[in-house]
Amino acid sequence: MEAILFSPLTIKNKTVPNRFTAQAMEGNDGGGGRPSERTLDRYRNLARGGWGLVISEALSVSETSLARVNGLILNRKNLDGFKRLVEIFKRENPQGLLLFQLTHSGERSGAFSERVSLGGGEGRILSNGEIEGIKDSFITTALLAEEAGADGIDFKMCHGYLGAEMLRPANIRGDKWGGSFENRSRLLREGLGAIKQGRRSENFILGSRLSMYEGIRGGCGTGGPDELIEDLGEMLDVVRLMDDLGMDYVNVSAGIPALTGAITRPTEPSKYLAYHHLRYTKTVKNLITRENRGLKVIGSAYSSYKAEAPAMMGEMLGKGYTDLCGFGRQIFADPLTPKKYRNGEAVNWCVLCSGCSRLMAAQLNDGCVVYNDYYKRVMKNSRTTPSAPPSLESLAPSAPLPPSAALP
Ligand SMILES: Cc1cc2nc3c(=O)[nH]c(=O)nc-3n(C[C@H](O)[C@H](O)[C@H](O)COP(=O)(O)O)c2cc1C
Ligand code: SF4
Repeated sequence: MEAILFSPLTIKNKTVPNRFTAQAMEGNDGGGGRPSERTLDRYRNLARGGWGLVISEALSVSETSLARVNGLILNRKNLDGFKRLVEIFKRENPQGLLLFQLTHSGERSGAFSERVSLGGGEGRILSNGEIEGIKDSFITTALLAEEAGADGIDFKMCHGYLGAEMLRPANIRGDKWGGSFENRSRLLREGLGAIKQGRRSENFILGSRLSMYEGIRGGCGTGGPDELIEDLGEMLDVVRLMDDLGMDYVNVSAGIPALTGAITRPTEPSKYLAYHHLRYTKTVKNLITRENRGLKVIGSAYSSYKAEAPAMMGEMLGKGYTDLCGFGRQIFADPLTPKKYRNGEAVNWCVLCSGCSRLMAAQLNDGCVVYNDYYKRVMKNSRTTPSAPPSLESLAPSAPLPPSAALP
């Protein structure tokens, strides 16, 4: 099993040295949208941890619609900070790949920010021209990501942010951004087309993260504006479109953290929801194989398996159901996971307590409140969560999940 976990994967002419993927995890610790020393430390640690692929936390393409008060904004003003982040990462781990995730928070923008929507959600309704401007910001920001030295971008179309709101059947705008599938996928199609034209190197990696099923009426992964039950047909068309556009990978996720968070990041009582992520990933990978397409596939929610995560990775990779395995909370619980696992050292496995999510929701610096003393203090001092941070004893992981029981 070790062999497959630590086997390389080629994307374009770049090599991901192993299959451990650090998924995007917002730390809400920037300053004026720039990476702070704390931000840089987080990426230094991930580089030291030997993750094959690291996807940065969501970097905003907008200065006005932000989800986190200390969220990062990638623009020319802040470019030096991001160049420094890449330099630090590459110095520590020259083999690892680093992608920048780009987002517009849309209706999921924080109360301190401007909340905007396409029409179906909360917030001021964006005009046709404003959406055109947002598309241009995605293009400009992607090219800045390349200038900063990132290996590629993850175009965020998941988790209820503007990209996902755009794709979902409930987007029934009457202009060129809503209604038909062609209109709802325009941001991706035109945005990516322009990024492809504008990038300096053909090897600059292009991918996107999707919520295969959002769990809301008319959401991504349903068959129409009034449908609630899962129907993956159209999301699989998005995957086909991505491949047709010449993109390199699809990052498979699900849910909307603010509304259907248990789907995105299962917690201890709902950890079995992570099996849906396995099914989505397998379905996407099967489609790509069957239709002889080139997209690589990244799965999500591997933290849910705790110490059994490597076994689950081995099973999914071994059966050809995914190419890369993505961890979210585990990168907070132990940024050194791949290195420690390889060396046979004890790993601090995430216990799915949601402490980091609670800090993020409270707009505080967020990280692991179980294993990291700084975040334990943030949690303790927080008025929103007056109780003491959960102790390791109270959160003892339940019996490990047998890998054989993992696929329904
Ligand atoms: C505190 C926190 C911050 C997150 N930030 C992002 C983000 O910036 N972009 C994103 O696509 N997903 C984000 N996620 C979702 C994770 O990338 C991941 O999909 C989710 O935690 C499930 O994976 P896991 O079970 O391995 O944690 C975040 C999740 C948490 C808990
Ligand atoms: S705070 Fe809890 S959920 Fe978050 S990384 Fe730590 S153990 Fe995992």
